[in-house]
Amino acid sequence: MKGHDLVEKNIGLMTVLVVVAISFGGLVEIVPQFFLKETTTPIEGLKPLNALQLEGRDIYIREGCHTCHTQMIRPLRAEVERYGHYSVAGESVYEHPFLWGSKRTGPDLARVGGRYSDDWHKAHLYDPRVVVPDSIMPAYPQLFDNKLDGKHTADKMRALASVGVPYTEEDFAGAEKAVKGVTEIDALVAYLQNLGLLLKEKR
Ligand code: HEC
Repeated sequence: MKGHDLVEKNIGLMTVLVVVAISFGGLVEIVPQFFLKETTTPIEGLKPLNALQLEGRDIYIREGCHTCHTQMIRPLRAEVERYGHYSVAGESVYEHPFLWGSKRTGPDLARVGGRYSDDWHKAHLYDPRVVVPDSIMPAYPQLFDNKLDGKHTADKMRALASVGVPYTEEDFAGAEKAVKGVTEIDALVAYLQNLGLLLKEKR
C-alpha cells in the first residue's frame, strides 16, 4: 500500500496530518507578528485623544456608528483614491477597543477628519437628508440636547492608561472640566474631525 492510500483510507491519521499542516501554516503567519515593531509602535505624532474627543468616541460607540462605518482603508487602489492613505497599524495602538469594523453600509471614516466643516457634520447628524438627500443614515437630533457631565472622563483615561495609553496626571486632573456642560454633538464632531489626520496628506 502506498503512503497516499494509507492516509486517505485512515481518517484518524488524516485528521492528525491536516491539523499539523494547518498549525504550521498558522504559525508561519502569526509568529512573525510578535516580532514586527511596526504593529506596536505609534506612528510619528500620534497622541492619545483629548478628553472631548474621547467622550466623542464613546458616543460613536454607543450610537453604533461602527456598525455601518469602517475605519480601515485597505491598500487597494480604489480605496486609496477614494479615502486617502491606507490605514496602518501604528495609527491604532492607542485604540481600545479598535473600531476597524467590517461592514460598510456608509463610507469608511478612517480619514474623515477635516473633510467637511463642523457645521456640515452638525447638519448631517441632525438630519442626514438635509445635506445628502437620498441618505439612509439615521438622524441623531438627541445629541444636540444631551450634555456631558464629565464625571467619568478621568476614570476612562485611567483605564486606558492601564493598558499603555500615555495619559498623564495633568490629563486626569483637567478631564472633567474640559467636557462638563458640553453637548454630545460637539464631542462627537471633535472626535470625527480628528480621525486620520496624521497620514492624510501623504499618499
Ligand atoms: C444605518 C447605517 C448608518 C449608521 C448607523 C450611521 N451611518 Fe453614517 N452614513 C451612512 C450612509 C449610508 C452614509 C452615506 C450617505 C450620507 O452621507 O449620509 C453615511 C455617511 C456618513 C458620513 C459622511 C462620510 C463621507 O465621507 O461623506 C459621516 C461623517 C457619518 N456617516 C458619520 C456617522 C456617525 C458619526 C454615526 C453615528 C452617530 C453614523 N454615521 C451612523 C450610514 C450610517
